[in-house]
This record gives sequence, C-alpha cells and structure tokens, in this order.
Amino acid sequence: MIASLVSVRNLRVELGGNEILRGLSCELARGKITAVLGLNGSGKTTLLRALLKEIPYTGAIQFHCGHDHSKPNPRHVGYVPQKLRIESNMPLTVRDLLGIAMQRRPIFLGLRSEVKQQMKVMLEGVGATESLLDRPLEKISGGEQQRVLLALAMWPEPELLLLDEPASGIDVQGQEQFYDIISRLNRERGTTVVLVSHDLSTVGAHVHQVMCMKDGLIHFQGPPREITAEALQQIFGTARHLFVHSHQ
Ligand SMILES: Nc1ncnc2c1ncn2[C@@H]1O[C@H](COP(=O)(O)OP(=O)(O)OP(=O)(O)O)[C@@H](O)[C@H]1O
Ligand SMILES: [Mg+2]
Repeated sequence: MIASLVSVRNLRVELGGNEILRGLSCELARGKITAVLGLNGSGKTTLLRALLKEIPYTGAIQFHCGHDHSKPNPRHVGYVPQKLRIESNMPLTVRDLLGIAMQRRPIFLGLRSEVKQQMKVMLEGVGATESLLDRPLEKISGGEQQRVLLALAMWPEPELLLLDEPASGIDVQGQEQFYDIISRLNRERGTTVVLVSHDLSTVGAHVHQVMCMKDGLIHFQGPPREITAEALQQIFGTARHLFVHSHQ
C-alpha cells in the first residue's frame, strides 16, 4: 500500500457557472512522481489550482505532512503554471524575478552575495545558464521561461512539486534533461511530484503513477503498466494510440 501525501475527497469546483471538477477523489502518492493525463479541458489545471487553494472548492483536500496548508500557495508546494502571464508594462529581468522570491529585503537595495550565488546554482540545476539573469522575462523563449520557473519552484525545497505541462515548450534534448532533473529531485530528496502532460509516450517511462482525467473526474489511478487498452479507449477515445508504447 502506497503512503499518501495528499488525500482528495469529493472535490467539486465551479467556474463560470459550470461544474469543472465533479466530485473527484484521489490520493497523491508520497515520494512518487505522478502524471496527470487527460484531453484538453478535462480539468487538469483546475485540479492543480485547487490543490494550491487558488480557487474555491467544496470537498476535502487533506495534506498529511504536518505543514500549514490553510492559506493559498503554501511555501512547501512548488508550482510551475501552464502559462506565464507577464504584464508587458512591468519590465522584469530573470534576476529580478528570482531575487523577489528569494530575498526578504527589497531587491532595489541590492542582492545579497549568497543569493547571487544561489541563483547561478539554481539555473545550472535546470540546464539554463547564468546569461539568462540579465534578460527581460518577457523576451526569453517559452522553454527558457519554463526552466526559470522550474528552478524557482524547486527552491528552497518543496515537499510537493506541481508542474503543469512543464516540458511542453522545451526541446527534445531539454526534455530528457528535464525528466532527469525531476527524477533526481524525487530520488535524492523524496520530493513528491505531480506533473500534467500530454506527452503520453514519454511519461510512462519516467513516472511511478498515472492519473487519467476525463470530464472533471479521475477514471484511472495506478502504475502506468496497469492501464489497460480498454481503459484508454474509454477515457481517451481516438487518442488511445498515443499511449501504446508508453506501457508496453
Ligand atoms: N476561469 C474560468 N472560468 C470558466 N471556465 C473555466 C475557467 N478556467 C477553466 N475553465 C474551464 O474549465 C475546463 C477545464 O479547464 P482546465 O484548464 O482545468 O483544463 P485542462 O485539462 O488543464 O486542459 P488543457 O489540456 O487544455 O490545459 C475547461 O472547459 C475550461 O474552459
Ligand atoms: Mg491545463
């Protein structure tokens, strides 16, 4: 029996007058990497946002870790959103973004030297270079933004990392590197990782658990090798073929 880090019971979320999550229940396996799969609009991002308490919900989300999760965006949860919304009238460099998150005193008073050093280590850890630090956030590529956000989400040391399609903008070489980073973090620090992905063939080889969502509910939860072709057909319909070599 796998230990649970988070128990979700009868989770319901209504957005814009529609019920998006419709009484969803699941367990997030402690110390494991779980992939959330599902067609567009099935409610994957909404589930992550509910776990972060960013949106109102009914039902129960219970963390079994002893940290305070009563307020939105708890410190022990790292999050990489699917889309980065940047106000173009707020020119922020990568250094500013990291500095604001990492340092308590205002960044216009200067960055402490250990913070500067830590930034380099963080970027190296996600396969990005120091040269990104001086670039405006809205001018770097989507894949570079995702690396920066991943570095930030991994700092200081989350116990739960929620990643919403984090590898989607990253090139093929970068994707292998990305899964290596996540696997190492999980192995060495025991971080629980939940990642949303459409990259069905890759995910099967890198994750311990899979949750398949459809219409605001989870229709399958278990190790990738246990998903049957029938279940895939039922959940994903014509997208079934995309899974085939993920669990052979
Ligand atoms: N703020 C909102 N107001 C109204 N409807 C919303 C809102 N946010 C999301 N929805 C709707 O909720 C449904 C689920 O959205 P969600 O973003 O969770 O899907 P998803 O599984 O992450 O999809 P994708 O694979 O495209 O990212 C969609 O139909 C979406 O249009
Ligand atoms: Mg989404």
